Amino acid sequence: MKGIILAGGRGTRLYPLTIAISKQILPVFDKPMIYYPLSMLMLAGIREILVISTPEALPLFRDLLKDGLQWGLKFEYAAQSEPRGLADAFLVGRDFIGDSPVCLTLGDNIFYGEGMMSLLQSCARLTEGAIIFGYKVSDPERYGIVEFDENENVLSIEEKPKNPKSSFAVPGIYFYDNQVVKFAESLKPSPRGEIEITDLNNIYLERKQLKAKLFGRGVAWLDAGTHESLLQAGAFIQTVQERQGLMISCPEEIAYRMKFIDRAQLLKLGQQLSGNSYGKYILDLANGR
Ligand code: DAU
Repeated sequence: MKGIILAGGRGTRLYPLTIAISKQILPVFDKPMIYYPLSMLMLAGIREILVISTPEALPLFRDLLKDGLQWGLKFEYAAQSEPRGLADAFLVGRDFIGDSPVCLTLGDNIFYGEGMMSLLQSCARLTEGAIIFGYKVSDPERYGIVEFDENENVLSIEEKPKNPKSSFAVPGIYFYDNQVVKFAESLKPSPRGEIEITDLNNIYLERKQLKAKLFGRGVAWLDAGTHESLLQAGAFIQTVQERQGLMISCPEEIAYRMKFIDRAQLLKLGQQLSGNSYGKYILDLANGR
């Protein structure tokens, strides 16, 4: 399974913070926003990752993430010149995907909760069809919405419906088999001028190849794409991290725990960052404290 992080878009809901840089480089508390979706791919065991962003922001992401080897990963980069929609990730990423299945994560989505790793790893074993998720929210008109029958089979998916048929939003992490590229090629732009991930999911639904899994209420899903939610996400991360003394979505830690890197490499990463609390956390981990 390969992974894509879609970290471009106009970021207009975060204007003027996004006037010069991509919003996914903005910090959410103590780390860049893109670390959060990246961590989900890593927890799923995915090590070949394509970062898609605007031509202006890509050099910044390259500076930050490099080739990925420092974390036992392999990053590639591709520019999306215009925000043509989420499903465009599979057209921009066509060559990268090759004949693999693929997991798409959105650059402004944050997940945290018990059991994420085993859930993501089971999804990453997908070879046929698609898996999306459902998460109960209080403001369903803001999201893609999935409706279920009593056996949790998907009945419908609608993008930002005015009259939502359920309160289950579709979070920004999606697993697809290799048909996704040809299905994305067949999509026509919606009235808002984008090729929609929801239309793509509907193709899988019509073919009875779509599964939706529910995230329980113990999982936190945050979308840091507005001023209010960016601040809320930062406060959430700070609160939980300071209470537990454990970092949320620290790629160095995940790389070590997933055995993508060894202790010597973790020490080296910590030493490069020593002098700040982030580096100290990594050094403590390497030293078994
Ligand atoms: O957050 C989950 C929601 O994400 C889903 O429930 C919706 O079904 C899905 O359409 C999407 O809705 P948003 O309105 O939140 O998408 P937004 O336009 O904010 O884009 C999500 C991320 O993808 C954001 O970080 C910007 C980036 N993006 C977006 C587009 C349209 C790109 O990099 N390129 C694009 O072409």
